[in-house]
Amino acid sequence: MTPAQDIQTHLAPGQRAVSHSLGTSANFSTSPSTAFSPSSIGGSLALANRAAPKQLKPFATQDIKILLLENVNQTGQDILRNQGYQVEALKTSLPEDQLIEKIRDVHVIGIRSKTKLNERVLSEAKNLLVIGCFCIGTNQVDLDYAAHHGIAVFNSPFANSRSVAELVIAEIISLARQLGDRSNEMHRGTWNKVSSKCWEIRGKTLGIVGYGHIGSQLSVLAEAMGMNVIYYDVVTLMALGTARQVPTLESLLGEADFVTLHVPDLPETRNMISTTQFQQMKTGSYLINASRGAVVDIPALVKAMRTGVVAGAALDVYPNEPAANGDYFTNSLNQWAEELRSLNNIILTPHIGGSTEEAQRAIGVEVGDALARYINQGVTLGSVNLPEVQLRSLTLDEPNHARVIYIHRNVPGVLRKVNEILGDHNVDKQISDSKGDLAYLMADISNVRFEEIKDIYESLEGLSSRVLTRVLY
Ligand SMILES: NC(=O)c1ccc[n+]([C@@H]2O[C@H](COP(=O)([O-])OP(=O)(O)OC[C@H]3O[C@@H](n4cnc5c(N)ncnc54)[C@H](O)[C@@H]3O)[C@@H](O)[C@H]2O)c1
Repeated sequence: MTPAQDIQTHLAPGQRAVSHSLGTSANFSTSPSTAFSPSSIGGSLALANRAAPKQLKPFATQDIKILLLENVNQTGQDILRNQGYQVEALKTSLPEDQLIEKIRDVHVIGIRSKTKLNERVLSEAKNLLVIGCFCIGTNQVDLDYAAHHGIAVFNSPFANSRSVAELVIAEIISLARQLGDRSNEMHRGTWNKVSSKCWEIRGKTLGIVGYGHIGSQLSVLAEAMGMNVIYYDVVTLMALGTARQVPTLESLLGEADFVTLHVPDLPETRNMISTTQFQQMKTGSYLINASRGAVVDIPALVKAMRTGVVAGAALDVYPNEPAANGDYFTNSLNQWAEELRSLNNIILTPHIGGSTEEAQRAIGVEVGDALARYINQGVTLGSVNLPEVQLRSLTLDEPNHARVIYIHRNVPGVLRKVNEILGDHNVDKQISDSKGDLAYLMADISNVRFEEIKDIYESLEGLSSRVLTRVLY
């Protein structure tokens, strides 16, 4: 195979230097895979290989520089290193000034929750193509600034669903048997063997509020342990096993022995469980919240537990959570913290629902794969800030093809101008989608010569709607 190309750009003032975009002067270096030659893109290939997927590589992969901070899981590091990218992995986050120094140089940055990628930092990231958040949340990134500068952001929202579901199962049994209290007593040297108000969970009813990734996994596990499962969701969803959807939250609260919350943090889910809902719950039932802290009105929960309506509770999430580990779970963080700590049969955990080795590994794989797919093929599936766009892979019997990616402002007439530029070529496939005022277009064009690719690139770069142009071949 003929090696792929690394084409360096001449920058207009203010233009972001994305080193793998086509520019006006071409310097070539080799890549371990893919095919390109200026006279015949792709070169000659054995017929037998022709229907195989063609690995698009925009440039020599050793030129892709990736900075991974905060001890990103080895699975993610391996995926990126196996692509041939230059990967620097650090165990910690960096102070902002050091981060700015480093980010100037890299095409990809991988972070977890502690690194803040705000406008000040991102405005220095002239080469940055994509951000990988190797975690669930993306609040630490200025998503809007990134999108408007053509920087895609990926995360891994569901890789830890199973871990949360398993924790909830453990909590259901622990609450039913008052395990936390018995264990605390033993730690203090007290033997207190009781069976009063301790229960098996077999035959009890579990009420799941929010039947999404976590709620539905939990449904299967709970049934396997002999529980009856009912659920309430704003969407009508197919039940797993013999679970049953109920029409209202009130009907769920009136029927469930255990209520567990798995809804997102939305204006309509804030204080979703408050005084009225505690009055609707069965006396002696249990509440579990491993969703988001604002979903439960905690002072109302304290009252419901003091009056015996709620026999036990497990909380993994809180309205205010500290940024670091330490002695922070006090009234200065949440004004009711010390009262909560004084209650019986309440399990308090520091947002560890998704914190398992398996979840970290799964996050590494999901985000690592998403980054490689975006760098090599331009596919934005799973991006949190760009429209999600996918085109099937080019195959090896399409050697003279190029994939054009044009991230642009979504203004009237753009597609006409883009199609005028692509119009002299055979556009095999084209897809475009928008999100707010931004749009993402991908087009595969065939029988193009290298000089033509350069012309296409430069013409697209000249359009006033341009945010970022990439050409992969
Ligand atoms: N404790 C942890 O460590 C941890 C880890 C992962 C996720 N989470 C949290 O768990 C929650 C659920 O996560 P998921 O991955 O299952 O989410 P998901 O998006 O897959 O499912 C959420 C479900 O809630 C439903 N829903 C939305 N609004 C509702 C409402 N007002 N009433 C009833 N149902 C409603 C949705 O239709 C959806 O089916 C989220 O808040 C997430 O942030 C916590």
